[in-house]
Amino acid sequence: MTPPGSIERASVPAHVAIVMDGNGRWAQRQGLPRTEGHGAGEKALVDTTYGALSLGVKTLTVYAFSTENWRRPVDEVRYLMNFNKGLLERRQHELHEQGVRITFSGRREWRVPRGVAKRMDEASELTKKNKKMTLNIAFNYGGRAEIVDAVRAMFRDGLEAKDVDEAAIRRRLYHPELADPDLIVRTSGEYRISNFLLWEMAYSELVFTDVLWPDFRREDLFGAIEEYQRRERRFGGLDK
Ligand code: IPE
Ligand code: IPE
Ligand code: MG
Repeated sequence: MTPPGSIERASVPAHVAIVMDGNGRWAQRQGLPRTEGHGAGEKALVDTTYGALSLGVKTLTVYAFSTENWRRPVDEVRYLMNFNKGLLERRQHELHEQGVRITFSGRREWRVPRGVAKRMDEASELTKKNKKMTLNIAFNYGGRAEIVDAVRAMFRDGLEAKDVDEAAIRRRLYHPELADPDLIVRTSGEYRISNFLLWEMAYSELVFTDVLWPDFRREDLFGAIEEYQRRERRFGGLDK
């Protein structure tokens, strides 16, 4: 599907971020194990990525595994680790051909199995020069952990209190080169942020949809962008 004419091309959000939620419920509704829902989310991710590319979105950040998701049963955690590794193996080449740069936000060095981290490095290395769009995968990501890591980096760099300002923190986030998300979408009818992009979301527009992630397609992304375009962003000021 090509993007609908109702989307104003000049004001497409440069950075869209998605909390891909509802995989477990999607599976359970069909009497399947929860892990089947994660598997079915791959199609949603690929279709949404192509939809974002077709609109000229510059950055798509997707929440794939949170620092709190380690609380899940070991079997599900193991499945998710292997699934994300497999997804990179299956998809990195086609994404590369489409001009997509793959990056990761999160604690790569903490608890992530070595084989998974290796695939992450490979995908970043393969695609690092691509310019069309950045697919930033938030993996073993927590918004609070990201801020803690930035503060630790400031201590390591020997900053004094007077040198600590927003720019100093920003520079030490996982991807300081990425603009803040203009639009954050959460699927599955949950109205919360769950530790996603806490620093970066200060002025993001939030769109919530009841669609469960495995059912999400580019049309749903287009719908969220249409809603975004009806919003008036003020950034604390008075005029547009
Ligand atoms: C989102 O789906 C994927 C991850 C958190 C890894 P869930 O697994 O949270 O699905 P629900 O919310 O239980 O339905
Ligand atoms: C957020 O979803 C994390 C991801 C989508 C990876 P969760 O399902 O983990 O969030 P809660 O537990 O419902 O807040
Ligand atoms: Mg969930």
